[in-house]
Amino acid sequence: MQPQVLAGKVGVVFGVANKRSIAWAIAQAWAAAGARLVFNYQGERLKENVEELVGEFGQSTALYPCDVSSDSDIAAFFEKLRGETDRLDLMLHSVAFAPKEALEGDFVSTTREAFRTAHDISAYSLVALAREAAPLMTNGGSILAMTYYGAEKVVPHYNVMGVAKASLEASTRYLAYDLGPKKIRVNCISAGPVNTLAARGISGFMAMMKHYQERAPLKRSCDPAELGATGVFLASDGGAAITGQVIYVDGGYQIMGM
Ligand SMILES: NC(=O)c1ccc[n+]([C@@H]2O[C@H](COP(=O)([O-])OP(=O)(O)OC[C@H]3O[C@@H](n4cnc5c(N)ncnc54)[C@H](O)[C@@H]3O)[C@@H](O)[C@H]2O)c1
Repeated sequence: MQPQVLAGKVGVVFGVANKRSIAWAIAQAWAAAGARLVFNYQGERLKENVEELVGEFGQSTALYPCDVSSDSDIAAFFEKLRGETDRLDLMLHSVAFAPKEALEGDFVSTTREAFRTAHDISAYSLVALAREAAPLMTNGGSILAMTYYGAEKVVPHYNVMGVAKASLEASTRYLAYDLGPKKIRVNCISAGPVNTLAARGISGFMAMMKHYQERAPLKRSCDPAELGATGVFLASDGGAAITGQVIYVDGGYQIMGM
């Protein structure tokens, strides 16, 4: 059994769609480290999936709908959460979306609407969720968001999602500054490619994976369980002085110049 470094902590997890979701890997690791978790699901379509997965933690595990592009959904979610707990310690943001056509062609063809949608769902939502979560983090807290290297370098086809991830990473720094005095830490994990539902929407994803196997110092990307372990570290006292950072869990790919 893992050490219970998150014993007594309460966390909220945004972004489980299915068992391959990165959010699921981090939720499993947080739960194994002793945290009690509450989940969102994006809409009725995903409810059954998420319900079945979180059933693993016992029938009493709460899950509520929340489409992060809706202010009223976010308000309703946190209202229900406040009925479950008067304190929150952890929040995971593992949510992203861009219209499929924006991830296929040239970046220069990105429409205003695709740009707006990608930024709204993939970056602004972190700010909106942090604003609701912070007042509950009365004992300090740890907020984590998932990002990708396409935020800082051009990754063909990643397009507007790279620009939205740059916004997410910058938002993390500004949130870290705002919330630091309340002992709330805000960090990103920058994961190497993982074969999930969202990843399969990026054209050329398998080529990306192969590239990491050829070029990364560790000759691979990362496993979901490793993202879970980093998620536990950042949420625990081990990460107590780390905030506003992007932590790379990518087989070392990010250090390469060529
Ligand atoms: N898979 C990868 O290779 C990879 C690499 C680096 C970072 N990431 C990031 O990890 C995070 C999770 O993605 P994943 O790969 O686990 O895929 P996933 O498809 O399992 O998860 C994406 C989640 O976003 C949710 N979502 C999308 N639009 C939403 C909305 N309007 N409201 C609420 N939820 C919404 C989906 O329901 C889903 O649960 C994303 O931020 C993604 O960009 C993924």
